[in-house]
Amino acid sequence: MGTIEGRKPRVVLVPFPYQGHITPMLQLGAILNSRGFSITVAHTEFHSPNPSEHPEFIFLPLPDNLSGCETSYINSLNGISAMNTNSLARFHDFMVEMLEMQEQHGQVACIVYDTLMHFVDEVATRLELPTVALRPNSAAYLRSQHVISQLQADNLIPLPESQLQDAIPTHHLLRFKDLPFPVNAEIPNILLDFFTSYANIRSSSAIIWNTVDMLDHESLTKLQQHYKVPIFPIGPFHKMAPIFNTSLITEDTNSISWLDKQAPNSVIYISIGSIAIMDKKELIEMAWGLANCNQPFLWVVRPSSVSGSEWIECLPEGFEEMTRERGCIVKWAPQKKVLAHPAVGGFWSHSGWNSTLESMCEGVPMICRPYFSDQVVNTRYLTHVWKVALQLENNPERRGIEKAIRTLMGDKEGKEMRQRALKMKQELELSIRRGGSSWNSLENLVEFIMSFTQ
Ligand code: UDX
Repeated sequence: MGTIEGRKPRVVLVPFPYQGHITPMLQLGAILNSRGFSITVAHTEFHSPNPSEHPEFIFLPLPDNLSGCETSYINSLNGISAMNTNSLARFHDFMVEMLEMQEQHGQVACIVYDTLMHFVDEVATRLELPTVALRPNSAAYLRSQHVISQLQADNLIPLPESQLQDAIPTHHLLRFKDLPFPVNAEIPNILLDFFTSYANIRSSSAIIWNTVDMLDHESLTKLQQHYKVPIFPIGPFHKMAPIFNTSLITEDTNSISWLDKQAPNSVIYISIGSIAIMDKKELIEMAWGLANCNQPFLWVVRPSSVSGSEWIECLPEGFEEMTRERGCIVKWAPQKKVLAHPAVGGFWSHSGWNSTLESMCEGVPMICRPYFSDQVVNTRYLTHVWKVALQLENNPERRGIEKAIRTLMGDKEGKEMRQRALKMKQELELSIRRGGSSWNSLENLVEFIMSFTQ
């Protein structure tokens, strides 16, 4: 491929259409754009990003025929194959047009894609275009998927209950019970197929990672040996990219004006991300825990995140009255701004990878209540490796919740976690500065992508 004079090289991005995956892909687009690349985002109509937030990008909607698709992540696995089948032809035709119009639009350097969108590989192979895989979650998580695949291949699933507490010999920071899905029961084929497909980088020439070497060094080293292509850990993306809004849901900005009225480090912020779902009993226990602990709280209750409920209609009677002076409930918050606000002293989270990075970058210690998948792995790292969080058991009850909040926000253990979280924040800041690991890795990535245009 020859460089086209006067035109910036173009990178085409293909995200998997869920908030936790779209956000890092758009952030990567902003990072690459600031380093001289033009950006095209090819996206499904389902969970389409908002083009007006990114006027400098070109957006290409792909037909997905997913109307009525389940918004729950687990059930959405059924939609992955349909998404891949339905998007292929349009994406192929679009890429052919792009290649014909490179004089006007800039040379296509490569396609960066979420490996769940594997139709990209088929199109790129046909058109002889290079691809790069994007991993939006930690390297430790991908390694844990490899562990499950190996256990399955060795016919060791279901594992006896007694072995769940044991450290995993090939991933010693985790116990078998910290794997992304329980291995003491048969794993459904659809999940096994998902692991295999997700871990498969196909013909990708490299892997870009929204992680940081200091957080994930051991796993990155192991995975480098496994995949053999260059690996670029350039996270946390949200600190490497200019600030912009990637939310699929409208952010309630009242949360910030409410925080402005609270004392420093006094508020516990609660959110379980964009896809986890809880039952009514858990919501009620959470409410009582919050009511009893007397701590100011900002609580995101996403519509439909409580099964069988539209929003907060099943809160205990009198709860809002009881906590009016010190509580604020919203449907969706500007989370990064919330975590950076001086009033926020703790984050009760499902431990999604974006939330984990966002919290650590602001030095906010956490209470982890993981639901599934990488949230379980992240929780083990947060509580036992980085030691900036404590864990609530599954199906937490009001007393346990009250105790966890008091510990995190008040007592010695919580103070020590805050100290470690602040130290972590400083170290993360160093990694994105000139000469830091993510900075250096980004320099190498830019050079690597440019090499496709020679
Ligand atoms: C999913 C998985 O659950 C997660 O574990 C995986 O790593 C990525 O895909 P999600 O559950 O949405 O993502 O969690 P997370 O990765 O934390 O992403 C949530 C994003 O939504 C964060 O960037 C967060 O800032 C944002 N958010 C959340 C808001 O902007 N406002 C809110 O009120 C809640």
